[in-house]
Amino acid sequence: MTTYESVFRASVEDREGFWLGAAQDLDWATPPTRALDDGKPPFFRWFPDGELNVAHNALDRHVAAGRGEQAALIYDSPVTGTKKTFTYARLRDEVAGFAGVLRELGVGRGDRVVIYMPMVPEAAIAMLACARLGAVHSVVFGGFAADELAVRIEDATPTVVVSASCGIEGKRVIEYKPLLDRALELSTHKPRKTVILQRPQATAAMGADDVDWAEAMATASPADPVPVASTAPLYVLYTSGTTGKPKGVVRDCGGYATALAWTMTNVYDVGPGQTIFTASDVGWVVGHSYIVYGPLLAGATTILYEGKPVGTPDAGQFWRVVAEYGVRSLFTAPTAFRAIKKEDPRGEYTRGYDISGLRYLFLAGERLDPETYRWASDLLDIPVIDHWWQTETGWPIVANPAGIELLPVKPGSPTKPLPGWDVQVLDTRGKPAPPGEDGAIVVRLPLPPGAFTTLWNDDERFVKSYMSAFDGYYLTGDGGRIDGDGYVFVMGRTDDVINVAGHRLSTGGMEEVLAAHPDVAECAVIGVADELKGQVPRGFVVLKAGVDADAAGYEERLRGELVQLVRDRIGAVASLKEVAIVPGLPKTRSGKILRKTMRGIADGLDEPVPSTIDDTSVLDTLRPILRSR
Ligand code: COA
Ligand code: AMP
Repeated sequence: MTTYESVFRASVEDREGFWLGAAQDLDWATPPTRALDDGKPPFFRWFPDGELNVAHNALDRHVAAGRGEQAALIYDSPVTGTKKTFTYARLRDEVAGFAGVLRELGVGRGDRVVIYMPMVPEAAIAMLACARLGAVHSVVFGGFAADELAVRIEDATPTVVVSASCGIEGKRVIEYKPLLDRALELSTHKPRKTVILQRPQATAAMGADDVDWAEAMATASPADPVPVASTAPLYVLYTSGTTGKPKGVVRDCGGYATALAWTMTNVYDVGPGQTIFTASDVGWVVGHSYIVYGPLLAGATTILYEGKPVGTPDAGQFWRVVAEYGVRSLFTAPTAFRAIKKEDPRGEYTRGYDISGLRYLFLAGERLDPETYRWASDLLDIPVIDHWWQTETGWPIVANPAGIELLPVKPGSPTKPLPGWDVQVLDTRGKPAPPGEDGAIVVRLPLPPGAFTTLWNDDERFVKSYMSAFDGYYLTGDGGRIDGDGYVFVMGRTDDVINVAGHRLSTGGMEEVLAAHPDVAECAVIGVADELKGQVPRGFVVLKAGVDADAAGYEERLRGELVQLVRDRIGAVASLKEVAIVPGLPKTRSGKILRKTMRGIADGLDEPVPSTIDDTSVLDTLRPILRSR
């Protein structure tokens, strides 16, 4: 009988055989003869002599196998009142056509294409078109503002940028083109062309370098898949680090495709012809892996949903989608369930739909609080599976492997490490923490196929940020523990990264924005607990000497300006709504701001005052401000 234990053991005892076996689920132009190249740690490469094309594996392979008429991608958009089904054959043709457009515009193997789009099928088509050409896409979440987009364009140096006239947030139309134009003004790198998808809700003014998506598609000649090295980059996905400069996580082709195909069967229990609904955004890793690549590599049907779980039109939309398309596995962030629970605490909306086909609910992106876990379990009466992963890892590190067997659940734990992940907890001296004791969660190298291979243009930062803290281990940035039964408990980030409504953001980045205001001498941004979004940022600023804070209306005006500054520079998604003007910030004697202590007090914990504190009176003044919300 196949059990979690037997599969995990097989992956440890014969790593080469395990992953070469998994790779056989794909079509290879040149089949790999080796799994791991460990010649240059910590830069590990998977299937070094293999060649393949990921888009071929996601589309053409299934058409060739007779699945051409099966639904590959269903676009469901309550905010525009649109539903559209793409069969595998149609999606392949659209992708081949757009690959032809990109090729015409000069995009070839290894070139970068930045994709800044809302949740429309064309976003997935553009990603797959890049993969078809062996080009490297870099999707930028549509909720990021011009400055964030500019930084990514500057770093990725794309040949082409693909965007749309607008996105839709509830009932609001957000024009993208002005943001894109501003980003291109800010960036010293200029792409050759920008392709714009005109949506009916807003028409973008087109310039000399703008190409209309529909016009270009009308005359495009389709492009065939280009085989590339397994180790070639498939995409760069920027994610928040400790500072404002995002990290360009580089994903390879062969390792990633192998790992995703493996997880579809073994974790999500979704196979050919079955339907998965991942309610996230293509701009995040969850969208890359389980809206686009994973489901299509598996020959499944994926739902691309444009909208929120609540609001337009109501809190029953997830259940409508589940019923309408026969969804087997639903995957989202806990915050989406908290939002539904807030609007519909008794789950009345579920009664209007037949959701009996739903087998599992998968949750990730932030800590699953026991209250939400219980509410979702009681409501749906199916396994609710918390699983832990990161942009860097590309797929779950720790999960309950539903496709192998369901292990007993311990609320608060995403269960056990998946094959390939040697998860350990180390204390500050780098020694293994005893079972049940907290420490830094690390993974012994090598990381499995599908995990990031480096940071774009920055091998040095890759080594410094992730591979240097403990020799031979990847530092996840999360703290937690492993209990005596091998269950992993992830308690939260140990750095300046926060998770707001499942969106990963950098408090360091927000501090850089606040510090840019001419009246601000110094500042701190911390993540505090929030009932709906899990965490939200709160800002604290100290004014420069000479600023007249007593002037009528000054404080309110400054707070407004600071909140707006963060919206303009990072995006509304940063959700920084509260900024307090304070006389000072608590610091250690060496001048380090005590953010962790501030966080603890704000969250109502009995945070001990560190012995390294410079002046306890500053903290005493701050305490009531931190506690008041
Ligand atoms: N484009 C433009 N603006 C965006 C955006 C996008 N793609 N995504 C979010 N925003 C804006 C929102 O409109 C909101 O603006 P506002 O402050 O003017 O109201 C702001 O950014 C904050 O967004 P969010 O934190 O998402 O809050 P919300 O109140 O709009 O929605 C939830 C809250 C919980 C319903 C929503 O975050 C959600 O569905 N989350 C699901 C989790 C998810 O997708 N996680 C991804 C990883 S799994
Ligand atoms: P991202 O890179 O956006 O996927 O965010 C990764 C971070 O989200 C992790 O480092 C964790 O802090 C957090 N996270 C993701 N999934 C979980 C989970 N199941 N439990 C706890 N934290 C999680």
